[in-house]
Amino acid sequence: MPEPQDRPSEHAGTASPAHRRAHQTARDLERYAGLFAQRTRVMRSSAMRDLMAITARPEVISLAGGLPDTSTFPPETFAAQMTKIAQESSAEALQYGPTEGFAATKAAIGRVMAAEDMSPDTDDIIVTTGGQQALDLIAKTLVDPGDVVICEAPTYPGAVPVFCSYEAETHQIPIDEDGMRVDELEALMDRLDSEGRKPKFIYSVPSFQNPAGVTLSLERRRRLVELARSREVLVVEDNPYGLLRFEGDPQPPLYQLDGGDYVIYVGTFSKILSPGIRLGWAVAPPPVMEKIALGKQATDLCTSTLTQYFAVEYFAEGRWRAYVHSLCDIYRARRDAMLEALERHFPPQATWTRPGGGLFVWATLPEYIDTSDLLAKALRENVAFVPGAAAYVDGQQGSNSMRLNFSGSDADEIREGIRRIGAVVGEQVGLYETITAEHRIPAAPQPPEPGDVVPLRRPRRET
Ligand SMILES: Cc1ncc(COP(=O)(O)O)c(C=O)c1O
Repeated sequence: MPEPQDRPSEHAGTASPAHRRAHQTARDLERYAGLFAQRTRVMRSSAMRDLMAITARPEVISLAGGLPDTSTFPPETFAAQMTKIAQESSAEALQYGPTEGFAATKAAIGRVMAAEDMSPDTDDIIVTTGGQQALDLIAKTLVDPGDVVICEAPTYPGAVPVFCSYEAETHQIPIDEDGMRVDELEALMDRLDSEGRKPKFIYSVPSFQNPAGVTLSLERRRRLVELARSREVLVVEDNPYGLLRFEGDPQPPLYQLDGGDYVIYVGTFSKILSPGIRLGWAVAPPPVMEKIALGKQATDLCTSTLTQYFAVEYFAEGRWRAYVHSLCDIYRARRDAMLEALERHFPPQATWTRPGGGLFVWATLPEYIDTSDLLAKALRENVAFVPGAAAYVDGQQGSNSMRLNFSGSDADEIREGIRRIGAVVGEQVGLYETITAEHRIPAAPQPPEPGDVVPLRRPRRET
């Protein structure tokens, strides 16, 4: 559907917004520049949003998004439920709703959280416009400019603009195949403590992390919760992927281990149902929840009533677990296709994670490859990925890594996409090796050590 500004102007001679945009001059920009609030200076665009315009082109194989495959959702279920809502609750579904969300939506959230062994008090839940809004509201509630926030390195690329726009001083803790290095977190907290500083919160995606696909081990989960409790620091647990597990035993959410005193939980229906309905939630202790609700009133009054009605109908119908299982089967096969293709098409110098769930693989290339530059080359081959730097607050680290999504494309597209990326990576590796070989100064022959076998020089054959 065209955006209003994309429609042709009906009044010949009146400049349309599109026309005005095309003729924007430096003077036009200056006219507004003085009006912007200070905070806009530190606002960052989400790398994925920027990429979406390019990757929407049908010829591009996009391994860049974090898109669940909504074509797997039965259209007849959608139609039946929306029809029922229109017939039975039209006026209510088209009306404003309570800021914290409907009790029935919270009951549906309760069911989803119970599937991971959590049982929050419904008064502690607020329904938000996606998990993204929950993150924004939490930061709005807790972070003043210069406050310390700690997150993983790499972290969810969509959290980076949130921390930046509230002007947090963000510290990133490295991860390995068992998730966040909690020992390094502890060392950082000791250091901050010695400066009389305390983080406002620690942000983590513990299960099938976005972007790296790794999962925090049970031991580290316990240690993290212990740290939060003993130092009275909040942890924000963001868990969109916990139920998208393809293998292995489930790990208890931090919220479950803590009981909800120091862990603020963020959930979403985006990856287990639909991101288009924009329904997420936060669970927080009552004093924090009160402020989050005030923040939400100012932001959007309430989350879409219509889509809450849809979610309530859908979760009441009782087939949501079967649908999540079907998603896991589909995504497992796509992950396998991606891992096999990486093995086949990426050079031996590259490494990558092997996620047991979620939507993403994180690949690391030799240090001399900058994946932001590589992306331009990949786009020429009509394939896209998210450059690793997007997952770092300084935008500098992770420049030799990339996030690859396996949920939004089918297995054939994934294989072809990885083949194309592998080809541009291979080109870079080849180029680097050629250049370094040309410039390599041959090592001066070393005098033999006593006991070394000195090869005898072959007598030169006379020609
Ligand atoms: C870790 C994480 N948090 C939050 C979100 C935001 O999701 P939504 O706003 O669609 O619920 C995403 C989306 O990809 C995510 O990966």
